[in-house]
Amino acid sequence: EKGGFPSFMEKEINEQPMAVEQTLMGRTDPEGNLVLDELKIDESVLRAVDKIVVVACGTAAYAGQVARYAIEHWCRIPTEVELAHEFRYRDPIVDERTLVVALSQSGETMDTLMAVRHAQEQGAKVVAICNTNGSTIPREADAALYTHAGPEIAVASTKAFLAQITAAYLLGLYLAQLRGNKYKDEIAGILAELEAMPAKIQAVIDTQDQVKSLAQQMKDAASVLFLGRHVGYPVALEGALKLKEIAYIHAEGFAAGELKHGPIALIEEGQPVFVIVPSPRGRDSLHAKVVSNIQEIRARGAVTIVIAEEGDEAVADYANHVFRVPQAPTLLQPLLATVPLQIFACELATAKGYDVDQPRNLAKSVTVE
Ligand code: M6R
Repeated sequence: EKGGFPSFMEKEINEQPMAVEQTLMGRTDPEGNLVLDELKIDESVLRAVDKIVVVACGTAAYAGQVARYAIEHWCRIPTEVELAHEFRYRDPIVDERTLVVALSQSGETMDTLMAVRHAQEQGAKVVAICNTNGSTIPREADAALYTHAGPEIAVASTKAFLAQITAAYLLGLYLAQLRGNKYKDEIAGILAELEAMPAKIQAVIDTQDQVKSLAQQMKDAASVLFLGRHVGYPVALEGALKLKEIAYIHAEGFAAGELKHGPIALIEEGQPVFVIVPSPRGRDSLHAKVVSNIQEIRARGAVTIVIAEEGDEAVADYANHVFRVPQAPTLLQPLLATVPLQIFACELATAKGYDVDQPRNLAKSVTVE
């Protein structure tokens, strides 16, 4: 049932092109408009939304962080992301004009369910983005947008993460379309870029041997750091979580801009640091900022492992290792940049002899608060 793979995790990593493709499937009409039939919330309510709050835990919360950049950019609706358990217990400001988006692979995470109930009590509408049909969170939510990643067995989430991000992009584009804002004309182009992502994810998977060989070399690392900016930041957090969860290695993700506010003190000779580099074709000198962060840590002895776009030559001089991902719009890059980090964690944990599908102390779905 592992389809010839040594673990469910590895199988699920390899299923990611399909997970994204299936999540996109059937959601446009012949004119290229996005149709989200499942979104059974009155259009007038969706048009009146003045705030979006994404609630989730763990990996799903990192998908939520990626979603925030996209939703705010395309919809111009203020969007917050909060860990469901923190949201629930801080008396959040939520009302009828708030749209709460609950992200959960299992649909059974108790912390997220309690946040959903709390938001509904305050009058908010809730859209659940879930991978498990008929589970509790989508049943209780006002509407459910399913990811079609197929069953995820490994405790460490991989394909559900990419599918959650994809579904959240669709939600963002749908709201932009519905509200007719200035990005309306760009929606078709962004959808076309999204449709191209499964093949690009496959291209990243096809380079996995390179990532695996580095993971084997680094199997005795005591600590691994991950840096990213903008959408690369939640990717960094996700890369660190994967390594903690299955390889039991100390790992931390940082916003690259925070380096000089503290974390750079951790850099010493030989410290491995993954850096997620944004597209050099993107806006706002983001790329140049990250390249200078790489220089700063390299100068202090870090072993830099850089995830960069094909054709981005600016990183070559400061990277000890470079993993290439195909070109894509910045907002969609997490669908590519996450993949080498998943492969790295899976291979490193395997090299240490751990059961990657059943890491110690963890359950696939956390049904207690
Ligand atoms: O089923 P959910 O998406 O609600 O689960 C949320 C987290 O428990 C989950 O993502 C967890 O962090 C994973 N083990 C991460 O790999």
